[in-house]
Amino acid sequence: MRFPLTLFSFALLCLLSSCSSSDSEREAEPSPRRRMSFNDDWQFFLGDDSAAIDPAFDDADWRTLRLPHDWSIEGEFSEDNPAKPEGGGLPTGVAWYRKTFTLPDSGAGRHVFIDFDGIYRNSEVWINGHSLGVRPNGYISFRYDLTPYLHADDRANVLAVRVDNAGQPNSRWYSGSGIYRNVWLVTTGPAYVDHWGTFVTTPQVDSAAAQVEVAIRLQRDDSVTGDLTVQTVLLDAEGNQVNEESLPSTVVGGSSIRLKQQLTIAHPTWWSVDRPTLYTAVTEVRLDGKLTDRYETLFGIRTFRFDAEKGFFLNGQPLKILGVCNHHDLGALGAAVNTRAMERQLEILKAMGCNAIRTAHNPPAPELLDLCDRMGFLVMDESFDMWRKKKTNQDYHLDFPEWHARDLQDMVLRDRNHPSIFMWSIGNEIREQFDSTGLTITPELVQLVKDLDTTRPVTSALTENIPEKNFISQSGALDVLGFNYKHEAYPELPQRFPGQKFIATENNSALATRGHYDMPSDSIRRWPEAYNVPLKGANDDWTVSAYDNVSAYWGSTHEETWRVIKKYPFLSGMFIWTGFDYLGEPIPYPWPARSSYFGVIDLAGFPKDAYYLYQSEWTNDEPVLHVFPHWNWKPGQTVDVWAYYNQADEVELFLNGESLGTRAKGDDEFHVMWRVPYQPGTIKAISRKNGETVLTREIHTAGAPAKIELVADRDRLTADGRDLSFVTVKILDADGNLVPHADHLVQFQVEGEGELVGVDNGYQASMESFKADHRKAFNGLCLAIVQTTENAGTITLQAQAEGLESASVTLTTKN
Ligand code: GAL
Repeated sequence: MRFPLTLFSFALLCLLSSCSSSDSEREAEPSPRRRMSFNDDWQFFLGDDSAAIDPAFDDADWRTLRLPHDWSIEGEFSEDNPAKPEGGGLPTGVAWYRKTFTLPDSGAGRHVFIDFDGIYRNSEVWINGHSLGVRPNGYISFRYDLTPYLHADDRANVLAVRVDNAGQPNSRWYSGSGIYRNVWLVTTGPAYVDHWGTFVTTPQVDSAAAQVEVAIRLQRDDSVTGDLTVQTVLLDAEGNQVNEESLPSTVVGGSSIRLKQQLTIAHPTWWSVDRPTLYTAVTEVRLDGKLTDRYETLFGIRTFRFDAEKGFFLNGQPLKILGVCNHHDLGALGAAVNTRAMERQLEILKAMGCNAIRTAHNPPAPELLDLCDRMGFLVMDESFDMWRKKKTNQDYHLDFPEWHARDLQDMVLRDRNHPSIFMWSIGNEIREQFDSTGLTITPELVQLVKDLDTTRPVTSALTENIPEKNFISQSGALDVLGFNYKHEAYPELPQRFPGQKFIATENNSALATRGHYDMPSDSIRRWPEAYNVPLKGANDDWTVSAYDNVSAYWGSTHEETWRVIKKYPFLSGMFIWTGFDYLGEPIPYPWPARSSYFGVIDLAGFPKDAYYLYQSEWTNDEPVLHVFPHWNWKPGQTVDVWAYYNQADEVELFLNGESLGTRAKGDDEFHVMWRVPYQPGTIKAISRKNGETVLTREIHTAGAPAKIELVADRDRLTADGRDLSFVTVKILDADGNLVPHADHLVQFQVEGEGELVGVDNGYQASMESFKADHRKAFNGLCLAIVQTTENAGTITLQAQAEGLESASVTLTTKN
C-alpha cells in the first residue's frame, strides 16, 4: 500500500533525517544572485589623467594587472618620499585603474552592483563616464549600483577608478596605495536581500537550544507584483539542516522591507577559539513561489560577557584574551590582500597561543574576519585612529566630520555577523580624550554602533588613566574601558574606575631585531628615553637586541606587562603591540630604518625569541623549550644564555658536555639564564619534570657557510593564481647548522607554473626591493614567496649564492 506524501509527512521525514537531502534540492534550484570576482584584467596608470573618465579613452598602453594591487610596494625606498619613513618611505601619489567589460548575461529586472572591499584612499569611481561617488576612507568597504548606467546592448562598459593618495602624510604607518582589496560584481533579481542585508543574533543560548533571530532587509523593484515569501533554514558545518522548517514570512507592498525570523537549533555546537564551529543561515526569497534570491550568512553560537572583577568569559568559561594588534600590511606583499598570506600569519600566531586580534586601527579586509571565524580568533574590530583632531596633516580628521557616521555604520553593518568579533573599538588613542569634546563625540559614536548592534560591547583604546583627565571615559558611554600601555597603573584601575570592566587594548611596544643580541641581557633599555632625545647607545645598523630587554619608554618589555596581566583576573586580557613587524613606524630609529621593530614575529614571518616566551606561557598542548642565542661568539666573551620553557620543573645547561647548572623559574619569572664564558662547541639544554627529561635542545657553533636549504611552508598548492608558498631560505654550514650572521646575496629563479611575488629577510633597515628576484640573507635567513598560476603542474624554485651549494624545491599545484 502506498501513502501519499503529504506536506506533513514530508516535514516529519525531514525531521527524522535531519533533512540533509533538502540541501541538494535547494542547490538544484538556481538563484538569480551571482557574486563574481572582478579582479582580473584591469588597466593601471601611475599618474593623473582625467581624460580616463571618458569611456572612449584609449588605455591600451597602460599596464594590465590583476587586483588586489598596491602600487606603493612596487616602488623604491626614499627618505624623501612624502609618506616619510613613518609611512614606510615608499611612493604614494595618484593613479587610475580602468576595466572594460561586457556582462555575461542580461535579463529584465536584474541588478548589477560593484563591491569594493577597500581602496586606499580618496577613490572616485565612474561607470561609462558617470560618477558613482567618492569614498575618502581607505579601509572601508562600499558598493555602487551599476544598473542604471550599464549598456543594454552589446557595447562594452567601462569602469574608471581614480585613487588619490597624494595628500601626505596621512598615516602613522604604511598604508599602501590603490585597489588593494578584492572587487566583486554582484547581480541579483528584482527582489533581493539588500547589501549586508542580514543580521543573525542568538538572543537565548544554552546547551539544550539556541534561539536564532535572523533580521533581514529586502529590496524589491516597483515593478514586482505578487506575494514575496521569505524563508530561512539553518545548516550546520556539514551542510545538514538543523532547524525545523520555519513558516515562510509573506510580505506585501513596499520597496524596502524589514522582517525578522525566529528559529531554534537544538543542542547547538558552540563557537569557541578552540573549536570554531560555524553555522549558515540560508535565506530564500520567492516571488509567487519562484526563487528570486538565495542569500547565505555564516554565523556562530557563543555567549560572552565581561565581569568587572573576574574578566572575560566565553561560553560561560573564563578566558584570558591573549591578543596581538596588527596593521594590515603583509610584509613583502605590501597591503595587497592575499588570503593565504593572512592565513599564514594567523597560523603562526595560533601556534604562539594567541587567541585574539585587534585590527589596528581600522576595519580589516573581510577575508581576515572570515579566517578568524574559521580558525578561532576573537577580534576587536576598530574604526578610527583619529576623530576631529589630527595625528598627521592630511589624515582622516579632514573627512571625519562628513564621513564618520557612514563609515562607522558601514563597518558594523558589514562585520556584525562574524562570531569572531567580540568588541567594537571606536578609536585608538583619540586626542579628544584630553578635552571636553570627548564628552559629546564618544556617546554619539557609541550610539551609532548600538543602533546596529547591541550584542557587543564598545570600547576605545585610551591612554589617559586618570579619570578626571579622560573625557572619553568620563562620557560614561563605553561598555568596557580599554587602556594602552602604562601597565604599572593597571593594579589601581579598579580603585580609579570603580565598577568598570577593563581590557588592555595595547601593550609593550618592545623592540627587537630577529637574531641580534646585545649584552648584558638583563639591562633593560628604553629607547627613546623621551621624546626628541637623541638615541644613546643604539647600534649603527639600527639592529636591536632580541633578548627581551629593549622597549619604548611608553611601553614595557614583554615580561613586564605579561606579569601584570597574568596576575589580575579583572584584566580581561591584552593585545601586544604587535604580532608582526609592519611597514612604516620604525620609531625610534632613523632612516634607513623603514619598518617597525615591535613585532613578536619579524616582517618576513620569522619568530623572534619573545615568540617562545608567549608560547611557553600561552600554550599547553606540547611542551616548550626554547634556548638562545646562537653559539658563534668571540672566544672568552661572556654570553647570556636564556631559556623559555613549560611543562617542566627545571632546565639544565651544558657547554661541551659540562654542566653549567640547573635553573628553575621563580614565581613571576618567565625565563632562566646562565652567564657563560664562551667556548666554541655545543650548548645543550635539558628540561626535566620530576627528574625525567621532557625536552632537549642543542645549538652548535656553526662553521663556514657551505650551502643553502629551502623549506617551503606548503608544497601542495592550489592552481588559482593566488595561492602562495612561503619558502624559508637558510644559510647552513657543512653540518647543517644555521650560520647566524650569514648575509649572502641569494638569487632566485622560478620555473613552471608559478612566479616569485616577494622576497624579504626581516631586517628593518633594508633598502632592497621586496619585488626583486634576489635578497640578502639577514642573520642566516631570508624568504621567497612563490605564487601559483592558474595552470596545474609543478613549480621549481632555485636559490643560488656565491660560494654556497645551491638548492631547489619543487612544489605541486592542482586545480
Ligand atoms: C601607540 C599607538 C600605535 C603605535 C604604538 C607604537 O601609542 O597606538 O599605533 O604608534 O604606539 O609604540
